[in-house]
This record gives sequence, structure tokens and C-alpha cells, in this order.
Amino acid sequence: MIQKLPFSYEGIDGDIRRLGGLLREVFTLAETCFSGKMAVLNIACGRADETGVLAASLEPARIGFYLGMDLRADAITEAARRWELPGGEIDFREGNAAMIGRIEGLPEFDLVFIRHQNYWHEPMVWEGILDEALATLKDGGHLVCTSYFDLEHELFVASMRTRGAEILANMRHAFSRDLPDAEGKSVDRWVAVFKK
Ligand SMILES: C[S@@+](CC[C@H](N)C(=O)[O-])C[C@H]1O[C@@H](n2cnc3c(N)ncnc32)[C@H](O)[C@@H]1O
Repeated sequence: MIQKLPFSYEGIDGDIRRLGGLLREVFTLAETCFSGKMAVLNIACGRADETGVLAASLEPARIGFYLGMDLRADAITEAARRWELPGGEIDFREGNAAMIGRIEGLPEFDLVFIRHQNYWHEPMVWEGILDEALATLKDGGHLVCTSYFDLEHELFVASMRTRGAEILANMRHAFSRDLPDAEGKSVDRWVAVFKK
């Protein structure tokens, strides 16, 4: 994965470096073993700042197809300018992730990633997104999420459990950076790995 554009805000480099360490740790805990060329879907990806460390954390597997999707056109434009995938296909689309099943020609995904999921903001919308996310995953595929808040993470995990997803690992990030805009909010505060 090649990063063609620097991150746009101060502090992001450190957050992303720490996220890379967190992903390696949680994949070890979950005893995942990724191999071959993977199809990866990044839902509600925003600027998709994590694209590079996500790809690195899946090694020795490589990403052969990567799709990032978000409602925000400006973020999608920035993501598309930043990331390149030599030897693979990379695409960023503005759109509603709850409608992803309507896109023709997509592969079944090996991994769905959701950073800073926003479940409690619009639970009904996110219920729809999770249905679609699981429908696009291969049997045995993985869904990985991170969360800003404790309760929001609990709600997301409960929702995944009601869908029958197996939870392989769930951990609090020891080096998560506190954010000043809300109490109890920090960057990638929680991470969980589920298996379909
Ligand atoms: C908390 S932000 C996280 C963004 C990014 N993943 C990050 O960690 O910086 C939540 C994101 O969900 C996106 N979002 C909310 N509902 C969505 C939907 N139905 N389909 C696609 N994206 C959605 C928002 O536009 C926003 O970018």
C-alpha cells in the first residue's frame, strides 16, 4: 500500500502508528491467520487514514482488492488521493454502506473493517449496515471494529452477538489518546475481532 499524500491533521501519524500495533496485538490474541490475496471492505472509512497500517497488519497476506465507503464525499476524495495499491485494485466510493449489497460485481470479502463505528448515533441505520457487512463477508471471514467510547463498543458487540457472529478477541487499547471533545472518548479505545 503506498501513501501518496501526508495525513491532514497533527497527531494522526501517532494515532495510526499506535493503531498498527493494536491491530497486530488483537490479531495475535484472536489467533487469526491471514494468507493469500484478500478482499477488504472498509465501511464508514472517512479519510481511511488507517489503510496503510491495516494492510501491514494482515501480512503475510496481501490486499488484492480494497473498497472504502463513506457518506462524506470530501473524505472519500481525500482517501482516493492518498492511497494507491500496486498490483491490486483500490476503490473509494461515496455511498450508504447499508446499501452495499446493491452494488454489482463486488467480490465476497475476507475482511470488513470499521474504525470508530458510530452505532449509538443511529442504531437503526447501523443495524442495516451490520446486516449488509455480514452478508458481504465470506463464511469464516472476519469483521474488525474499533470504538471511541465504552458503551458504544458494548452496544456494537451486543448487536454482533445477536447476529450470531463469533467474537474472537475484544480488547481495550492501553495507549489510546484521550480526546478533549467528550468525556470517556479516546482514539481506537476498543478493538474487537469477529468471525462469521
Ligand atoms: C466516527 S466517523 C469515523 C470515520 C473514520 N472511520 C475514522 O475513524 O476516522 C463515522 C463515519 O461513519 C460514516 N457513516 C455514517 N453512516 C454511514 C452510512 N450509512 N454509510 C456510510 N458511511 C456512514 C460517517 O460519514 C463518518 O465518516
